[in-house]
Amino acid sequence: MIPTNTEDGQHRLPMEGIPQPNRAEVLQLPRVHISSHPVMIHKLTALRAKQTPPPEFYRLVKEIGALLAYEATEDLALQECEIETPLEKMHSSRLAGGIGVTPILRAGLGLAEGFREVIPDVQIWHLGLKRDERTLRAAEYYNQLPYQVDLQICYAVDPMLATGGSAIDAISILKRRNIKNISYIGIIAAPYGVLKLSQAHPDVDIYIASLDERLNELGYIVPGLGDAGDRQFGTF
Ligand code: PRP
Ligand code: URA
Repeated sequence: MIPTNTEDGQHRLPMEGIPQPNRAEVLQLPRVHISSHPVMIHKLTALRAKQTPPPEFYRLVKEIGALLAYEATEDLALQECEIETPLEKMHSSRLAGGIGVTPILRAGLGLAEGFREVIPDVQIWHLGLKRDERTLRAAEYYNQLPYQVDLQICYAVDPMLATGGSAIDAISILKRRNIKNISYIGIIAAPYGVLKLSQAHPDVDIYIASLDERLNELGYIVPGLGDAGDRQFGTF
């Protein structure tokens, strides 16, 4: 148990007594996209199961990252180009501008690899945020975002959207680097985190594989999958 000290001197769990929206309230939000692909649902079942060991868990995160990458990149802009096939010249199209992926460390690493398998020339900008388990506030500890930016879009990727604190901070950091077009990509979200993220950054699309029921009093998503970082990297 991780009690938190409050002003009245009581020890409370961090989400104890905090009202949370239900799924129906969040499902109406305009920029929330929840995958309904059967392959995604199948992989998510394996990911959640507690007996799934770290190597398989990491592989599944990557595969789910690739599926989310397909869904989230559906509206990317193209620019025309001319190429020559072995037979003749033709007009064709390429993705317009660079594409950035910001994994929120650590757990975002597997998702970023999934994106990279779909679009190999993405730029990966690492950003380290650690959630304090008592306050549930995120603190930045690592930042490899470049200053020269010429991107069509940047995807902030992190498997778990719990209170939304890490995602909100990560997107604020990206905006301070003048990134205009940002989407958030996650695997499992709680309604509370989705609502907070939508309110803090209403211009950001949110792509997730599942909207779960709620946060427990410790701030973990239920039913969820436990700790996404520990399960990817075997740090139990
Ligand atoms: C987890 C997760 C998110 C964050 C979600 O990371 O990967 O980044 O918590 O919680 P929030 O929505 O309440 O901010 P954690 O800080 O535990 O770090 P890790 O990836 O190194 O395990
Ligand atoms: N971070 C995780 O890894 N899992 C949760 O359920 C919440 C935050």
